[in-house]
Amino acid sequence: MILISVLLLSAAFLFLWMHKVEVHDFRISRHGIHLRKTTERPLSVLHLSDIHFAGPNPAMARFFEKLAAETFDLIVLTGDIIDCAEGVPLAVKTLSQLKCRHGFFAVFGNHDYYDYRIVDALLHNFPGQPQPKNSNPTEELKVSLEGAGIVVLRNETREINIEGTAILIHGLDDPTTGRANIRKTLENYDAGKINFLLTHSIDAFYDIGENEIDLSFSGHSHGGQVRLPLIGPLLTHTMMGRDYAAGIVQVKGAVCSVSRGIGYGRVLPFRLLCPPEAVVLTVN
Ligand SMILES: [Fe+2]
Repeated sequence: MILISVLLLSAAFLFLWMHKVEVHDFRISRHGIHLRKTTERPLSVLHLSDIHFAGPNPAMARFFEKLAAETFDLIVLTGDIIDCAEGVPLAVKTLSQLKCRHGFFAVFGNHDYYDYRIVDALLHNFPGQPQPKNSNPTEELKVSLEGAGIVVLRNETREINIEGTAILIHGLDDPTTGRANIRKTLENYDAGKINFLLTHSIDAFYDIGENEIDLSFSGHSHGGQVRLPLIGPLLTHTMMGRDYAAGIVQVKGAVCSVSRGIGYGRVLPFRLLCPPEAVVLTVN
């Protein structure tokens, strides 16, 4: 009887921790990145991913106020911006307070296209399943973000110049729902310039050549979202393996920032040993 009580109490504590505490334990992960090509000066890049805006979230709002206290050279957002239609105005209000000198660029992820209900979210863990039947207002999201000065890239490239350093920002549409066209996205690739790639999933690298990209930004994995002690994440949503689910990794000559993400799908509101993060890179 005592053993059962202890087990039930432990399970209740673990549930509360995962659902109430860790999902709000927002971190800023800072990394220094050295590229093969040189920049005129170190660049600060804020990498956001998988925010899953859905409804009011005071703890997340406070975290964004903290991020808004810094000014970055560049901000990139790698998809799953919203979780449902209610997230659109919240996304615009929250993201528009962030400050950058040379541009804010975004690509879409699977949740920007589809509103995942519980069955969709569970089936999503198995390959070959149909897409969810409920859509999200993707075009409204794009127009709203662009009205706030955030450039949404869908298989296209923009060039920026930061005090003499030319950077091509290639933005791939969502690879996880079959919308990515890597050859179209990279048709303006220029080996003489610095090439950044924004892609919701790092799995896009299966279709990318060696040394084609200098620095890439991804999410989608949520770092596994739930990591077991000594075992690690059970589900990572990347075919590259668990070592590529989060952090700074190398693929085909590219340095890749893979974010654990800031939010979660609202039907799976848990995190364990995998706190939400915004990534700040100092690139030179
Ligand atoms: Fe996500």
